[in-house]
Amino acid sequence: MVNLILFGPPGSGKGTQSANIIDKYGLLHLSTGDLLRAEIAEKTPLGLEAKKFIDQGALVPDEVVIGMISTKLDANPEAKGFIFDGFPRTTAQAEALDKLLALKKTAISMVLSLEVPEDELVRRLLNRGLTSGRTDDANEGVVKARIVEYHNKTAPVADHYGKFGKFKKVKGDGTVDSTFELLSKEIDELVSERV
Ligand code: AP5
Repeated sequence: MVNLILFGPPGSGKGTQSANIIDKYGLLHLSTGDLLRAEIAEKTPLGLEAKKFIDQGALVPDEVVIGMISTKLDANPEAKGFIFDGFPRTTAQAEALDKLLALKKTAISMVLSLEVPEDELVRRLLNRGLTSGRTDDANEGVVKARIVEYHNKTAPVADHYGKFGKFKKVKGDGTVDSTFELLSKEIDELVSERV
């Protein structure tokens, strides 16, 4: 089983590249951002609570997102592997994920971190905000708050996986296709080591 984390700041291309990876490798995509937006669209109590954090560019509390991921893992026992997008975003989430996967007798295979300069992240997100309707892309203040949350709370997750030699940086500021090529090279290497 191959379980990947696509890591990186807001706008680094995690969602875009996850779509390419699931097509090529048949992994199941778990995006906490997508799951939270679905809850918001359905106006569930969880969604209404999460929206308060998301609209300010802040992280949603750990227990909420860990609960969502746990439910999804239980609901997909036949999956041949997962790609986690936007999760884990804190060290507490990373530790919880390790435990959830251990219960299923598996583990994270590799964390692939998309490296993109900050001015390019801001440009991409403000550009998407013009058409996407995503409230957290709507203005530069919220976009920058998301990037600050990333540096303060999410970047330390790199150390958690780095300790086990499972953290790999990938240049993410080229085109979508050239970035996918770099990611594919890493994943192909990982898959070939397991055959
Ligand atoms: P989430 O949905 O995870 O958003 P994010 O991490 O802020 O990431 P984005 O979706 O904005 O960017 P991305 O890296 O996926 O890039 P994308 O491919 O879309 O989270 C949203 C919020 O939910 C969080 O702020 C938080 O409040 C909450 N949340 C979610 N998970 C949580 C968790 N685990 N814990 C706590 N809270 C959580 O690309 C961005 C744009 O760039 C697109 O327009 C795309 O077309 C373009 N683009 C992509 N690649 C390229 C390229 N190579 N060249 C040019 N343009 C490109």
